[in-house]
Amino acid sequence: MIGLFDSGHGGLTILDALHRRLPRQGFIYLGDHGHAPYGQRSPEEIYQLTRDGVASLFALGCTLVVLACNTAAAVALRRLQQEWLPQHFPHHRCLGVLVPMIEEIAHNPWHAEAGASDWARAPETLGVFATRATVASGAYVHEVEKRAPRVRIFQQACPDLAGRIEAGAEEAELAAMVTRYVGELLAQLDGAPLDSVVLGCTHYPLVEHLFRAALPENVRILSQPLRTAESLTAYLFRHPEMKHFGNLPAEIRAYTTGDPTLVANLASRFFPRHLPWRNLPAHTARIELHA
Ligand code: DGL
Repeated sequence: MIGLFDSGHGGLTILDALHRRLPRQGFIYLGDHGHAPYGQRSPEEIYQLTRDGVASLFALGCTLVVLACNTAAAVALRRLQQEWLPQHFPHHRCLGVLVPMIEEIAHNPWHAEAGASDWARAPETLGVFATRATVASGAYVHEVEKRAPRVRIFQQACPDLAGRIEAGAEEAELAAMVTRYVGELLAQLDGAPLDSVVLGCTHYPLVEHLFRAALPENVRILSQPLRTAESLTAYLFRHPEMKHFGNLPAEIRAYTTGDPTLVANLASRFFPRHLPWRNLPAHTARIELHA
């Protein structure tokens, strides 16, 4: 089983795309609803919560975990890959949702030479909507600048948006928030045309229609769930030992650190299939808290 981790419901938008692309692959989803939202937390808290979540997924038998959360990927992934995994789980792997987006923006595979970007296809001006922690990490800006320095990138933090989506807020309230954040991003551009945007939080595809309505008509919205599904498929092709294709329909297990009944009520908005939400078995919880 491949593990997927998010602060709450958002990663289900990624799970949906992965399940469509890889219908025979089993997945275990863990939403840290008990500590969501992550976007307003400190980098150290985000790192520790993410590490504990990944450790729980490893304890459930996953050897590959995708951080289906931009905030966790932007803040914690590099440290997990460089420090924690080699020391504690040298044969396990952890991937994120930023790399597929950076590849899409730069039109360049992650390990290609810097500057080898296909300029003609890269956007000139890019907007990134994300949580406050993702914006503060600067991860999108640094990685895009390294790989496609001609792209002008503008970030817009959307504090509270993931939290209000997570809480099941009314459409009108969410529409007003999205309209305000789009307006703030456009104001940063000072009249320059905007080519493309990334919804850089896995909760935002749930309100993509609201972004579409608020953005100028010709702006492209790059799809993180689709890109992540393509990227993971390519990864499994390169690392067949990480894939575990079974019979249809593949098993999907869902765990939460929150209240399974409350989570199940909202989750159907994010993922069309019924998921049997459970709390983590005691032996998996917080096993690496002091690592
Ligand atoms: N869904 C997450 C992301 O992609 C985090 C939202 C939050 O917990 O603040 O950034």
